[in-house]
Amino acid sequence: MVYVVDHPLILAELTGMRDRTCPGPEFRQRLRRIASLMVPAVTADFETKVVSCETPLEVTSGQKAARRIILTPILRAGLGFLDGFFDLLPDAAVAHIGLARNELTLQPEPYYIKTPPVIADCEVILLDPMLATGGSAVEAVQRLVDLGATHLRFACLVAAPEGIATFEAAWPDVPVFTASIDRGLNDRGYILPGLGDAGDRLFGTI
Ligand code: PRP
Ligand code: URA
Repeated sequence: MVYVVDHPLILAELTGMRDRTCPGPEFRQRLRRIASLMVPAVTADFETKVVSCETPLEVTSGQKAARRIILTPILRAGLGFLDGFFDLLPDAAVAHIGLARNELTLQPEPYYIKTPPVIADCEVILLDPMLATGGSAVEAVQRLVDLGATHLRFACLVAAPEGIATFEAAWPDVPVFTASIDRGLNDRGYILPGLGDAGDRLFGTI
């Protein structure tokens, strides 16, 4: 269940982000715009419910998402995806999951988790621009499932085939939305061609 959301506007923004000379402010803006452009695809199959609506002329009915939406960025780089999703889903709640990938083992090390008290029967959208080995995304889903999440999907920007395979093996029922499937990983677990370290480029920690 991997969906490649490769609208031309998204691909143009992504190309700008890949450029090593792209300055931080531009990098953040491009990521925010891509996030917003991905929202329709990521949420297209959300169940809706009928709600009453009063126009200036009469009472009618409309629709809204049936479940509460919880945006869940994996810190830090997932924060770069958050505002673009928030722009189109302003009523969403936010769960934060802090994971740092150990540079030597490439294993994710959890350091912070804060979610709304109830996440069961909510639409939980996990956000992280980078799916590299897949370790962070697999761990994040495990944490959310342990906390009761029942409806999960994962939105990323760039995915490596290795990460997709690992994620699908661990969570075959969790759909993945990505703007690009890149060629593979280098020996340090970085995506090729990729865009480098997303967290460092977002937050200037280079
Ligand atoms: C990066 C990225 C993902 C993870 C992907 O985060 O934002 O969370 O690596 O790699 P994986 O698929 O191999 O687990 P990192 O741990 O570098 O932290 P940061 O976002 O704080 O820079
Ligand atoms: N994390 C990143 O930020 N970039 C990669 O290429 C791999 C993991």
